[in-house]
Amino acid sequence: MKLKLVQQNSPETLVSRTGSAVPPSGIREFFDIVYSTPDCISLGVGEPDFTTPWRISDSGIFAIKDGNTHYTPNRGLPELRDLISRYLAKEYDLAFDPDTELIVTLGVSQGLDLALRSIINPGDEVIIFEPCYVSYTANVMLLHGTPVVIPTYYRDRFKIDIDLFKKAITPKTKAVILSYPSNPTGATIDRETLEAIAELSIRHNFIVISDEIYCSLAYEGRHFSIATIPDMKTRTIYLNGFSKSHAMTGWRLGYVAGPQYISDIMMKIHQYTALCASSIAQYAAIEAITKGAKDVLQMKNEYIKRRNFICSRLNEIGLKCLVPEGAFYVFPDVSATGLNGRDFALGLLQKEKVAVVPGRAFGECGEYNVRCSYATSMDNIRESMLRIERYVKQL
Ligand SMILES: Cc1ncc(COP(=O)(O)O)c(C=O)c1O
Repeated sequence: MKLKLVQQNSPETLVSRTGSAVPPSGIREFFDIVYSTPDCISLGVGEPDFTTPWRISDSGIFAIKDGNTHYTPNRGLPELRDLISRYLAKEYDLAFDPDTELIVTLGVSQGLDLALRSIINPGDEVIIFEPCYVSYTANVMLLHGTPVVIPTYYRDRFKIDIDLFKKAITPKTKAVILSYPSNPTGATIDRETLEAIAELSIRHNFIVISDEIYCSLAYEGRHFSIATIPDMKTRTIYLNGFSKSHAMTGWRLGYVAGPQYISDIMMKIHQYTALCASSIAQYAAIEAITKGAKDVLQMKNEYIKRRNFICSRLNEIGLKCLVPEGAFYVFPDVSATGLNGRDFALGLLQKEKVAVVPGRAFGECGEYNVRCSYATSMDNIRESMLRIERYVKQL
């Protein structure tokens, strides 16, 4: 006998409310338009234009040839963790035990997810400074946490206003996310502000999640991590990785470090959700961390040249921008053209085939900015500046 099924409800009602409520990334949305515009110059990408230095890729290939294609220990290869721990100590005065406080992850993206999952209970508040990397708010929402957004502004060089920060702290504040050098502004954070944040974190008992993925691309002075401030190691979750420093975005390799009581929880979540990072990428990372310093420096010097050029051209054109102190983005204010960032970007794409990202993708306070990435060739930057100049003149 054939069973006649009567549909009671549409299967679309079955999806997660939380998943549906998270807005799509403003960058993706814009790039759907960019992809339908052939031959455009993109200043939109958030990754190095350099391919992974050959010796690093070669180590990945050797790992495959040597049959190192199995699961690794959950935390990551002991040799790699050991090297990361020593590298962090030497470069940034950080002291993380490779066996109990470090986990190798699938990029900083997974490290961020582990960090948040290990501390958030539903309803917990997480303070986020905008404009910022697009994933922070969404990741907090996915865990039923509440993002509490504090804007920062061009007029303050995108520095954190500690008084605003103090006002945002409530008994529900579980954590703050810091990310310096910043995507999208290129701003860094000074020691004094970090000390003020450390004091608040201790006084009000919240965690600091510090995403330092661009720390090797800090152009002015030595990068300083909040985890090195006395008493902060026990309340900081530190994120870093190989995507930006070593041009390894596609390898998906990062690490998360934190005090053992948090690392133990992150480790359980990691075991159940990812098992381990790619063995091949981990072998490549061993090469990156032991022999990659020269490559990192070469790329950094190239970014500095491009940064200097793009900033002086944008300012000449009349689009005010700060000279970024790190990462590979400039975040000019386009309000002098009478347009907001989105209309400016759409017009530029249509008329001159140059893609920049509307600043609002990084938070409401970026409404009148656009993000230009200089992780593209000098030729592209030169040509795009000519086109932006022409576009601005006819507005
Ligand atoms: C500030 C910031 N954090 C994290 C990430 C993600 O990095 P990964 O490729 O290591 O997952 C990005 C990527 O653009 C970023 O800009």
